[in-house]
Amino acid sequence: MEKIILTGDRPTGRLHVGHYVGSLRRRVELQNSGEYKKIFIMIADAQALTDNFDNPEKVRENIVEVALDYMSCGLDPAKSNLFIQSQIPELCEMTTYYMNLVTVSRLQRNPTVKNEIQLRNFETSIPVGFFSYPISQASDITAFKATTVPVGDDQLPMIEQTREIVHKFNTIYAPVLVEPEALLPETEACRRLPGTDGQAKMSKSLNNCIYLADSADDVKKKIMSMYTDPQHLLVSDPGHLEGNTVFTYLDAFCNDGHFERYLPDYANLEELKAHYQRGGLGDVKVKKFLNNVMQETLEPIRKKRGELEKDIPAVYEVLKKGCEIARQEAAQTLSEMKRAMRINYFEDEDLIRRQAEKYNA
Ligand code: TRP
Repeated sequence: MEKIILTGDRPTGRLHVGHYVGSLRRRVELQNSGEYKKIFIMIADAQALTDNFDNPEKVRENIVEVALDYMSCGLDPAKSNLFIQSQIPELCEMTTYYMNLVTVSRLQRNPTVKNEIQLRNFETSIPVGFFSYPISQASDITAFKATTVPVGDDQLPMIEQTREIVHKFNTIYAPVLVEPEALLPETEACRRLPGTDGQAKMSKSLNNCIYLADSADDVKKKIMSMYTDPQHLLVSDPGHLEGNTVFTYLDAFCNDGHFERYLPDYANLEELKAHYQRGGLGDVKVKKFLNNVMQETLEPIRKKRGELEKDIPAVYEVLKKGCEIARQEAAQTLSEMKRAMRINYFEDEDLIRRQAEKYNA
């Protein structure tokens, strides 16, 4: 079977380095591998509205930010179709039919939804749209017959729920839909990159994110004030790696080439870690190294973004074209679904003839 990718992000802010190591970097590699017949990258504005319905301007403003972040990381519109969820009405139609295949209690058991309900204090009054977004996410994935969904592991319950819907649809109606598989980030550090303050979650309100669009100066400042090991007071003290943000970032970002270029006293990260644990290696030296590593990674992204920012209408044009292609694709799947569900009345001449015969025998 030909391999197809669908994935996406909610446009609620600029993308940060957590998105980069957790998914963006991988998407670009997959795009350039040539292994995928089609690639769809979706800006999930309709999903963003499920918990930002009272702040549509925020979602609207961030569409172009996310598109710029995508393209500056190397997602190439000639290879990856970039589009906006709300412009594909077929997705809503699919969601309506999938709702018949999912129970309320199954949604209540979805760990991601459970978690987010708590986070947003929705316990006493959950908007139906928010509660049912896993079903709408199943439409996003199945509309494109995606085989592969590169996501963070918080999204695993969504893929699981999608697979259940696909299985049910195919069993009850006809084998139209494809069961997708999640593609998770390579390492633990990439899966859960902490905020610069050491908090597990990167968030705008905590002011602990490094954004892809941050200036070189801002990145440096954020790195130099990063959380490390509070017990590592003197350079000579042994340092701890557990929960040490600087080392988690190095795990996610650095390779042996970086040591050659910026810190040739060490062959690799293992040696650096060993020295830190022994004592005698100061935080500032490690932070300066991390800064070099991250600047090397982020500089080309920043440069590309600067170029793209000069022609914003062109970015919207990319999205518009992407929406047209995505729409054709979704319409095709929806039409197959409706045939399988026996709701294709006007396509079915046999049906009309049989009904006519019944009355005119
Ligand atoms: N839920 C995803 C997130 O919060 C965004 C998303 C919407 C998505 N639809 C999707 C991801 C389909 C993968 C596939 O980041």
